[in-house]
Amino acid sequence: MTNDQTTNDKVALSRVDGRLKVTGRAKYAAEYNVKDMVYGVLVGSTITKGTIQAIDTRKAEGSPGVLSVLTYLNAPKIPGYQADNPSPKGPLKIFYNNQVYFNGQPIALVIADTFERALFAASLVSATYNTEAHQTDLKAGSANAFTPGRGKDFVKGQEDAWKSAAVKVEQEYVIPTEVHNPMELHAIIAKWDAGDKISVQTKTQGVKSSQRSIVQAFKLPPENVQVTAPFVGGAFGAALRTWPHEIAAVLASKVVGKPVKLVLSRADMFTSVGYRPYTWQKVSLGAAADGKLTGITHEATGQSSVYEDFTEGVVNISQLMYACPNINTRYRLVSLNVNTPTPMRGPGEATGAFALESAMDELSYALNIDPIDLRMRNYADTDPSNNKPYSSKFLADAYKIGAEKIGWTERNQKPGAVTQNGWMVGYGMAAGMFGAHRSSATVMARMLADGTLVLLTSVTDIGPGTGTAMTSVASEVMGISAAKIRVELGDSSLPPSPTQGGSQIAATVGSAVHDACVELKEKFKSIAGNTGAINYTQILKQQNLDKLEVTTMSKGGDEQGKYAMYSWSVHFMKVLVHPATGVVKIDKAISVADAGLIISPKTARSQMIGGTIMGIGMALMEEAVIDHKYGRLVNNNFADYHVPVQADIPQVEAYFVNKPDQILNPIGAKGMGEIATIGVAAAVANAVYNATGKRVRELPITPDKVMEG
Ligand code: MOS
Repeated sequence: MTNDQTTNDKVALSRVDGRLKVTGRAKYAAEYNVKDMVYGVLVGSTITKGTIQAIDTRKAEGSPGVLSVLTYLNAPKIPGYQADNPSPKGPLKIFYNNQVYFNGQPIALVIADTFERALFAASLVSATYNTEAHQTDLKAGSANAFTPGRGKDFVKGQEDAWKSAAVKVEQEYVIPTEVHNPMELHAIIAKWDAGDKISVQTKTQGVKSSQRSIVQAFKLPPENVQVTAPFVGGAFGAALRTWPHEIAAVLASKVVGKPVKLVLSRADMFTSVGYRPYTWQKVSLGAAADGKLTGITHEATGQSSVYEDFTEGVVNISQLMYACPNINTRYRLVSLNVNTPTPMRGPGEATGAFALESAMDELSYALNIDPIDLRMRNYADTDPSNNKPYSSKFLADAYKIGAEKIGWTERNQKPGAVTQNGWMVGYGMAAGMFGAHRSSATVMARMLADGTLVLLTSVTDIGPGTGTAMTSVASEVMGISAAKIRVELGDSSLPPSPTQGGSQIAATVGSAVHDACVELKEKFKSIAGNTGAINYTQILKQQNLDKLEVTTMSKGGDEQGKYAMYSWSVHFMKVLVHPATGVVKIDKAISVADAGLIISPKTARSQMIGGTIMGIGMALMEEAVIDHKYGRLVNNNFADYHVPVQADIPQVEAYFVNKPDQILNPIGAKGMGEIATIGVAAAVANAVYNATGKRVRELPITPDKVMEG
C-alpha cells in the first residue's frame, strides 16, 4: 500500500482479477474464438450528408473468402425497426434506407472467412451519392439551436440577477468533442443457435440492457438472448448502449448462418460509439464585495446528431453547487451532421464544471479572495435547488485535505509571480459533484461445502474493481478471508444488476452483496440453532448439505426522496508553464473525494487517479477535430488524437475523506467514477492562469492558446 492514502481500517485488497488481467488470461470480447466463426468489417460513407445513389458490392462479393456483403438494399428487415413508432428521431437504424447523416456512417458490412479478407473486400465496396450541404460546426449552426425536450430552463429567485451585482464575471467557455477511446476496441461475437436463440459476447457496460436491446430489435423472448461480458477493458460511457454495429453483427450472423466477429477499428471508434459533445457555455456570476454570490446564470449549447437528440446535464451543476438566492440556467442543442454523442465520464457535470469552476476562479481574482475561501463563503448546507438536507456532505474536509497536500500556502494570489528553474509556477483548484445513486440489484450468495463463498450477479466490471469491492463487503459481513470468495459477473443469465454507469455500482451492488450476506448468515444461524460463532463448513457437513444459498434483491427506500444525495470532489494542481513555448507541465495533482466510506481502498485509489488523468487529458490534449469543409474527422487515430501518457503525469495523489454516508445505503459508500474527472479541467486552467495571468477558456489548453495575445 502506498502512503498517499488516508488511513482506512478495511483490509486493502488487491484487485481480485488483477492477476488474470496482467497475465492475459482475462478474455475480452474480441479475444474469443468460436467454431466456424467468420469476420465482419464495416464500410463507412465518404460523404457527410445526402443519399446513396448506387452502391457497388460486386467486386467485394467476388473477392476470395467473402460470404456476404450487407447493405440497405439486401439486408433482412430488423423487426424492431419496422415496429418502432415512426417518430422522426431515434437511434441510427443501420442498413435501413439510403440516407446518410454523417461521415463514416456504416453503409455496408462485408463478411468473410478471415479478418484480412473481409478488410480487403471492404476496400472494394464503392458508392455514389447525391451529396447535400452539411453542417458539422456548432458555432456556424448555432442559429438553429433549440430547447430539447429534456432541457427545460431553470429559474430560482430572480433571473439574470448577476447583472446588478457589485462584482461581476461574464465569460464564455468551450470544450471540444472528446472521444472515450478505451484501450479495448468495441467488439462483438454474435452466434445464433437453433434459429431463434442468440448468444453474444460483446463489450458492454450492462449485459441486461444489451439483452433488452437485442430482444427489442429482433423481437425475441428474453430467455432466447444471452449476453456475456465477463471482462471489459474500459468504457467510460461508450458501452452504455447497444450500438448499430452490434445489431449489424447479430443480423450478419443470421444471414450467413455462422458466428460473426466484428471488431471496430480505432478510426471506427470515433464515429460509432459516441463521444463527449462539443459544447459552448456562458457563465455569469454576481457577488457582493464580501464574496457572497448574488446571482448565477449558466447557459450552454451542445451538439447532437440530426437523427437523435442527446442531452446531458451541462448546466445542472450551477443549480446545485453553491448557496445563491438567484440562479437561472438555459440549455440548447444544435443538430449537426455528426454521429450521436453519448455519456462520457462525468456526463454533463464534467463539461459544466469546467465553465462554472473556471468562472468561480475568475471571480476570486476579481474579488481578491482566495479561491477556497470564496467557495467556503458560498458553501451550501442544503441542496440549493430544493433545500433538501444532504444525506452526507464532507466537501469542506476535502478542501482542507487537498490544500494541505498540494502545499496551497506556497501559492501566490498574484498571477505570474512565481518562477522555478525558468518555468512559471501556478496553483489552481476546482470542485466537482455528481449524484450519489442507488438502484436495485439482485445478488445470489452461495456457500459451498469447502467454505468457498460464490457471489453471482449480472453486473459488469468495466475497470473500477467491482468484483474486488464485492469481495471486500462479503468478507467483512461473513467474517471469512477474501481468498475464500469468488465472484461471477457479466452474464445476462445471472441475477439482475444495473448497468455499470452513473457511479452507482458500489452503492447498489455493494449493498446487495451486504444484504445477501446478512441473509445467508441468518440462514446458517437458524439452521444451526445456536448463537455462538458460526462455522459454515461444519454446519453444512452436519446438515449433510453441499451448499447453502440465498438470492436477495436490494434497493433504496423512501430516504431517496427525502435527502439530496451527492458525492463531492476537489482537485488541486501545481503546474509549470514554459514562458517561451507555452508548454504546460503538470508538476503535481491532488484529488480528494467525499465518496462516503471507501469499500476497496486500492481500487478506489486507482479509479480516482485514472479519473484525474482523464481530466488532465481533457484539459491539455484531447480534441477530436473535424474539417468542417468536408465534415470529416482529421485525427481519428492515436498518433493525432492525444491522450496523456506516463511522461505527462509525474505525480498524482488521491485521498478520501472516508466518512460513511449513514443514509444512502447500509455500507455507507457513495459513487466515485464521475467525480474523479469532474472539475479537473478547471483546476488545470485555474493553475495555468495563476502561473501566467493567461486565462484559457477553450479546451484543450495547448501552447498556442497559452502564448496568444
Ligand atoms: Mo458512465 S458516463 O456513467 O459510464
